[in-house]
Amino acid sequence: MIRALFMSRFTIALDKTRNAYKFFSESLLGWDEHIDRGMPWQGEKDPYKIWLSEILLQQTRVQQGLSYYLNFVEAYPTVQDLAKAEDDEVFRLWQGLGYYSRCRNLLHTARFITNELDGVFPHSYDELLKLKGIGTYTAAAISSFAFGDLRPVIDGNVLRVISRFFGIEDPIDTKSGRNAISKLTKSCIEITDNSAAYNQAIMNFGAIQCTPKFPKCSNCPLVNYCKAYQLNLVSQIPIKSKKIKKRERYFVYFNIESNEHILIKKRTDRDIWQNLYELPMTELSTPFRNLESISENWAIPIRKELIESLNISTTFKQNLTHQKIIATYVDISLIESNELATKPYFWVSKSELDQYAFPKIILDFLKVRARQLGISY
Ligand code: ADE
Ligand code: SF4
Repeated sequence: MIRALFMSRFTIALDKTRNAYKFFSESLLGWDEHIDRGMPWQGEKDPYKIWLSEILLQQTRVQQGLSYYLNFVEAYPTVQDLAKAEDDEVFRLWQGLGYYSRCRNLLHTARFITNELDGVFPHSYDELLKLKGIGTYTAAAISSFAFGDLRPVIDGNVLRVISRFFGIEDPIDTKSGRNAISKLTKSCIEITDNSAAYNQAIMNFGAIQCTPKFPKCSNCPLVNYCKAYQLNLVSQIPIKSKKIKKRERYFVYFNIESNEHILIKKRTDRDIWQNLYELPMTELSTPFRNLESISENWAIPIRKELIESLNISTTFKQNLTHQKIIATYVDISLIESNELATKPYFWVSKSELDQYAFPKIILDFLKVRARQLGISY
């Protein structure tokens, strides 16, 4: 009895103590020594490049983010180069990454640093946080990677790894869950003397070892003290209290082609995809049913009597954080081929389409169409 009590106390005592933090941090750092993901920003000290990599990698897999990072660094090696760039050119390079407000903020902040801060990146976490588009995660990443600040990054990887290892059963989308994780990450990073290496290691660990699905517990260096593993809760942790309910939106896009040109316009409203280009469109309040029902609220710049035929082409879907877009494409052929465009619509030659940045859902359509026609955009 006494012995059992002693034993159980002993395991609990290892739970959230200096020993546990030390074991966790040292094991992570040791594990990371053998990892090379071929990421050019790893070990980078230039705050501009770190910032760029972190913004590009948000909501993006490393594999996909890599080519964007290389293109951006080549086109804009310094924050001043980025500040000088044309908006449309930067949007073009960003195309395909989604979340375009990040791109707008990137440009805004590059110009702010260049024009208002003499081109010098702020060195402290608190000053970094004041910049547009830089939240707690990015500020922690820049201040630890570039300036050695003992500041833990907290992203999805970190939430998962910490909550599993320490067996946090509070939902990670609540204040209490966040606070518990935040305290633990501070304790773990403070035990190391290399916050840059620690932050990089925990992100790598979450991406490679302690993955969302099928974590590799059987060869994990943390397994002997991992609470989630001991309690058989690995597949339940991290716990979330609510799932995001997405708003569905129904778009109808009109593909109007004439003489190797296609009719497009810029999106200017305060809505998703602001400043990107798209085909003429109308938004429905209910799912698309048939062509008759859309012609009631005709919102496209072509007089109905000029239309030779209207044909439903394809449907594409795109998931955004809070919205799901369901787009139906309609091909329209015109009787006259020299119809003038009225603003904000304009004709663009198909061979010049690649000079415009489009949302992914439009690109998907254009690519399919190009393949059908045997041309490439
Ligand atoms: N995802 C976001 N930032 C990252 C980084 N620095 N390394 C690996 N993956 C990341
Ligand atoms: Fe993650 Fe499994 Fe390792 Fe625990 S044992 S840290 S759940 S990979």
